[in-house]
Amino acid sequence: MMAGEPFASNPFVVGKSIPAAATAHIPAEESLCPVVFHEWVNSEYKHLIVEASAKALAVTPGQFFHLLCPSPDVGELFFRRPQSVYRIDRTRSRIEFLYKCVGRGTRGLATLEQGDQLNIVGPLGVGFRLDPAWQHIVVLGRGVGIATLGPISQLAREHDVGVTAILSARDKDFVMADGLFGEAGDVVGVLDTDGSSAVENVEKILGDLIAQKRADAFFTCGSNRLFQLMKRLGKAHRIPGQVAMEQVMACGLGPCYVCVRTFEVNGKKELRRVCIEGPVFDMQEAVGW
Ligand SMILES: Cc1cc2nc3c(=O)[nH]c(=O)nc-3n(C[C@H](O)[C@H](O)[C@H](O)COP(=O)(O)OP(=O)(O)OC[C@H]3O[C@@H](n4cnc5c(N)ncnc54)[C@H](O)[C@@H]3O)c2cc1C
Ligand code: FES
Repeated sequence: MMAGEPFASNPFVVGKSIPAAATAHIPAEESLCPVVFHEWVNSEYKHLIVEASAKALAVTPGQFFHLLCPSPDVGELFFRRPQSVYRIDRTRSRIEFLYKCVGRGTRGLATLEQGDQLNIVGPLGVGFRLDPAWQHIVVLGRGVGIATLGPISQLAREHDVGVTAILSARDKDFVMADGLFGEAGDVVGVLDTDGSSAVENVEKILGDLIAQKRADAFFTCGSNRLFQLMKRLGKAHRIPGQVAMEQVMACGLGPCYVCVRTFEVNGKKELRRVCIEGPVFDMQEAVGW
């Protein structure tokens, strides 16, 4: 090996590297992205915006990036952490993340400042599908799941498909991103503090949307009980649905099988890897978590 030659990886540096023709056919890449914005949105969640490469900007709703988070302490962080893209801003060549600080990885991520570089791999996984024949979709998210549903709502708006976003949260501080969803359509916030997030109430809201023919497809992420509710209503009313699943991951690329979950396809149990066969799956085939 020549002195100065990279020994491990040679990431694409946003704003500096020139896209290599030899790797143009590979849909994902490792890239170093300058941080342009990074602020708390409440006591637990941060909003991160980075400049992204052309390949990263090809991300589709529901896909994710595997982030190399800086260590928050003297120890090593061995694995990357998966995060869905929350908003895609192709005009300004930026991608956005909305994430909850839960452990060492995300606490380390939270230390990044404007001007720092974030190492990301992606876009990865299979995202949501939008059928242009649908006139109105319903997205139902809770907690970190709200972030994942942002881009599909953005895409629906771009295709003149109506959106009702039901955002479930502990209290009003955690109904994040209502601005983003408000740009795409109607927003209904349901809270634990006033009891409106109870499954029976969300069922009533969904029932009304179905009766008004404003539910051609269902999308959900972030809560098993809300997923089970949408799955049951979807089956009863023959409404197609998609769920974005979250699962602890290691490689994020397929070979390690850390992220396997059980699915039920035509009455038979099947194991699938969330990182490469998902994270978005048919709602009726997913079993839950
Ligand atoms: C495809 C995908 C997309 C995701 N998108 C987002 C997002 O947009 N915003 C967001 O805030 N989070 C998202 N997550 C969850 C995020 O990856 C985890 O919160 C993160 O990896 C935790 O890392 P940590 O080191 O901070 O915490 P750890 O110390 O690793 O874990 C702290 C706690 O979080 C749980 N946890 C760890 N990894 C995951 C995981 N992958 N899924 C669920 N729980 C986990 C652990 O069981 C533990 O209870 C996503 C996960 C997946 C698989
Ligand atoms: S995380 Fe390694 S196979 Fe999915």
